[in-house]
Amino acid sequence: FRVLRWAWRLTWLSAIGLTGAVAYSILELRQPPEQFTPDPEKKTLVILGTGWGSVSLLKKIDTENYNVVVVSPRNYFLFTPLLPSCTTGLIEHRSIMEPIRNILRHKKASVKFYEAEATKIDYEKRVVYISDDSEIKGDIAHTEVPFDMLVIGVGAENATFGIPGVRENSCFLKEVGDAQNIRRRIMDCIETACFKDQTEEEVKRLLHMVVVGGGPTGVEFAGELQDFFNDDLKKWIPEIKDNFHVTLVEALPNVLPMFSKQLIDYTESTFKEEAITIRAKTMVKKVTDKYIQAEVTKPDGSKELETIPYGLLVWATGNAVRNVVRDLMNQLPAQANSRRGLAVNEYLVVNGTENVWAVGDCAIANYAPTAQVAGQEGAFLGRLFNTMAKAEALEKELEKLSERQALAKGEEERNQIFDEIRERQKQLRRNKQIGPFQYSHQGSLAYIGKERAVADISWLSGNIASGGTMTYLFWRSAYLSMCFSTRNRVLVLTDWVKAKLFGRDVSRE
Ligand code: FAD
Ligand code: NAI
Repeated sequence: FRVLRWAWRLTWLSAIGLTGAVAYSILELRQPPEQFTPDPEKKTLVILGTGWGSVSLLKKIDTENYNVVVVSPRNYFLFTPLLPSCTTGLIEHRSIMEPIRNILRHKKASVKFYEAEATKIDYEKRVVYISDDSEIKGDIAHTEVPFDMLVIGVGAENATFGIPGVRENSCFLKEVGDAQNIRRRIMDCIETACFKDQTEEEVKRLLHMVVVGGGPTGVEFAGELQDFFNDDLKKWIPEIKDNFHVTLVEALPNVLPMFSKQLIDYTESTFKEEAITIRAKTMVKKVTDKYIQAEVTKPDGSKELETIPYGLLVWATGNAVRNVVRDLMNQLPAQANSRRGLAVNEYLVVNGTENVWAVGDCAIANYAPTAQVAGQEGAFLGRLFNTMAKAEALEKELEKLSERQALAKGEEERNQIFDEIRERQKQLRRNKQIGPFQYSHQGSLAYIGKERAVADISWLSGNIASGGTMTYLFWRSAYLSMCFSTRNRVLVLTDWVKAKLFGRDVSRE
């Protein structure tokens, strides 16, 4: 009897497994039609970028309603919150990338993707000029894409404030290539410091890792780098033990200005324990290939210029406007007062335009430039466009019904059409009720190293500030669940386990 019960359970389990496998295969096989043939009846919606804003929009939008064209120099979505972990090899970069083709193939109607950079948006002509910026170019590398509707989600570039030497000598941390570059350079600095007969002064310089910018990017990177040193480098290359040093340079009096005072203090004390030096009130003015020059504000308010030698310099001082966005701003008188990006209204329409929207870091809508904001804005536009398409379809139907009503012969037919018109009008009223964009802040999270994180979480219209190991576990589980796909989740989890078991890989590619 017991055997029978087990056999019965096993049969059930196999049935569930089989159903899951069949459902998954159906999902995997689901593909839009192979050829993208623009339907002249539909409007052409061009989406620029494959980041948080654009991809959230793509996930939500019903692509059957529009001819959707996506243009981006990056044929993948990047889960930026885990990018700092890629700089030390804790996570492999491919684990946080999701190919855009994988996202698009699950859409109902085909979407055209062009791997290209939008170089100019001509608002009057309603075209976007695009350029193939990749290594391999065909006969045609520049062309134009006309649009009826345009969504700009091109993000932002790294701010350097025109400080001399920054572009030439620093590493940034925004894209996959940046993380790979940093990873390579950390190991290059270390191996060069270990070179035979290297002078002591040069060893100290090479092993001095300087991070400029005490926002979340700078803090998270500094924490990851110190972890790398404590967990792996120190053991694998003990000769660098006494000279490896991480310094975080910040112009303001403290790091992480967007967090509460309690969490700022917690971060600063954790950094102290980790032996990361914070140089607050220190504004970098010039960068050369071997040192930075910074203006330090002393406790008495006086200022002093200081030279700080470095081996690796990571520049994380926030966002600047991309050229293509600045050019559009210059075309629109309504944007004359905008400085940090495209000013948009409460429906994310770019001020001074019709049928042009902006999302994420390139739009200025009074929210911080975060993934959270960009994601919610993109999803809002997806819903808005679905509603707009439904409204248009209902309006067309109403027009047809009115024509039919005018031609109707008998009383009965007229009444029947009248009822249908009332029903459609009701649907239309309900459909048009989409309100303006409203951001719902879920809180801020940042990793600070030593298996600790800080979190300012919005909870029941209040705020919870917490820091420590439990917050770190929360940080990990939150980001794991936010990863784009199950595939990403499995890869990230595997990377974490791999690093725990075998340590990070210290080879230089
Ligand atoms: P992006 O995600 O930057 O996407 C822009 C897209 O536009 C990219 O696909 C790009 O290739 C494309 N593009 C660029 N130029 C052009 C062009 N000329 N034509 C067409 N396409 C173009 N936020 C959080 O909320 N939580 C976090 O934990 C967090 N961690 C972060 C960690 C790091 C290291 C960084 C750098 C940022 C982090 N952020 C975080 C901020 C967050 O990543 C950004 O706010 C978010 O990516 C903005 O989304 P976006 O869609 O506007 O731009
Ligand atoms: P940021 O704008 O948040 O911080 C940049 C810091 O650099 C500022 O504190 C500024 O005072 C400092 N700075 C500027 N010029 C300087 C100079 N010359 N010398 C010294 N310091 C200088 O930039 P960050 O960290 O790149 O973040 C960009 C956006 O991405 C932010 O909105 C942030 O909230 C978001 N983000 C969020 C994360 C999270 O939630 N965990 C992680 C990373 C980024």
